[in-house]
Amino acid sequence: MALIDKDKKKKILKELESYMQRDFFFSSGHILGSMCTQPHPIAKEAYIQFLETNLGDPEICPGTKEIESRFIAFISKLLHAPKTSAGQIVSGGTEGNITAMWIAKQLSRKTKVILPESAHFSFQKLASLMNMKLIEIPLTNEYTMDITKMKKEIHNEIAAVIGVAGSTELGAIDPIPEMSDICSDEHIFFHVDAAFGGFVIPFLRELHYHVPQFDFRLRGVSTLSIDSHKMGYSTIPLGTLMIRQAHWLESISVESPYISCKKQAGLLGTRSGAPVAAAYSVAQYLGFQGYKSMVESCMDVTHYTQKRLEDIGLSLVTKPTMNVMGVKMKKPGQIVKKLSQKGWRVNNVERLSCIRLVLMPQITKKIIDEFIPVLKKTCEEVGEL
Ligand SMILES: Cc1ncc(COP(=O)(O)O)c(C=O)c1O
Repeated sequence: MALIDKDKKKKILKELESYMQRDFFFSSGHILGSMCTQPHPIAKEAYIQFLETNLGDPEICPGTKEIESRFIAFISKLLHAPKTSAGQIVSGGTEGNITAMWIAKQLSRKTKVILPESAHFSFQKLASLMNMKLIEIPLTNEYTMDITKMKKEIHNEIAAVIGVAGSTELGAIDPIPEMSDICSDEHIFFHVDAAFGGFVIPFLRELHYHVPQFDFRLRGVSTLSIDSHKMGYSTIPLGTLMIRQAHWLESISVESPYISCKKQAGLLGTRSGAPVAAAYSVAQYLGFQGYKSMVESCMDVTHYTQKRLEDIGLSLVTKPTMNVMGVKMKKPGQIVKKLSQKGWRVNNVERLSCIRLVLMPQITKKIIDEFIPVLKKTCEEVGEL
């Protein structure tokens, strides 16, 4: 064990602290524009406990590997994945989407991908990385994939179709059941990006919200990505890519001679077990019932926020499907900048001329009561109101 020079340590930690003071914190409640969250307290403890684990070399950490298997079993149950399926732990939605398209390309030997205009920008990365061509489909008035336009683009060079179950900008859900049927009939790989919605939609359905089915109960769904560091209420970085057929993983595996397992699948080599232990601990702590209550409370705050915004004369781009909303603005960039100067973080969605608010679990009605007068004043200063 290395000897620690106490004075040196103190100086370095003080320096770190000074940088950290410039950051925004979820605990302040002032971050209204992020799909990440202040992690559940148990996640923080579990993360620290597993700091030195490496799931890239699983035989060194058989216990942590067991946690990973148990966590994947939890996700599999949540998403009704079949017995034939496998889960691949990823760093988040970006890696989930890249990995899914890597599989689709390997299986189909094709490179064209159909996706809605609302798809996350990570698809641009994978197009560049893997030399894939994106065919973007314009959206309906509900900001979801236009099925009629999508059908026109289907031909025998398509490697995959993407459906978004909880869009980044508005939380909108594509018509996943219809897309699944089309892909199944046409034998096309269908990836559902539920990075945000994966931990929301199952519970919205239980709470009797009118949202479509989106998981493996739909025969056409090939892969689905879901992030624990978003509505899974856990630490960054953690997502899971669920894959309908475990053997598809072979298409993205290589031999890994000098470590303890013969083959390694996916992008990463060395990777920490800490976020996996954290996500598992939250899943165990909350269970499906806990997540359902969390989603119920986020939706309650979402409806309250919508009302408060409308009361001051602002309107939404569209009725929120989940705890994400776009508030129409003529000059969203100016609003975002001014709010940031006042200590509040929201997002500028220039494309839809709105600011985005994400009502994550740490946002309460009390915080919204603090935020609304600041937003109103800012809108008046910029000439929005
Ligand atoms: C729908 C969707 N997919 C993918 C991503 C990318 O996730 P990450 O930034 O965790 O890689 C996001 C991020 O917000 C997202 O909203």
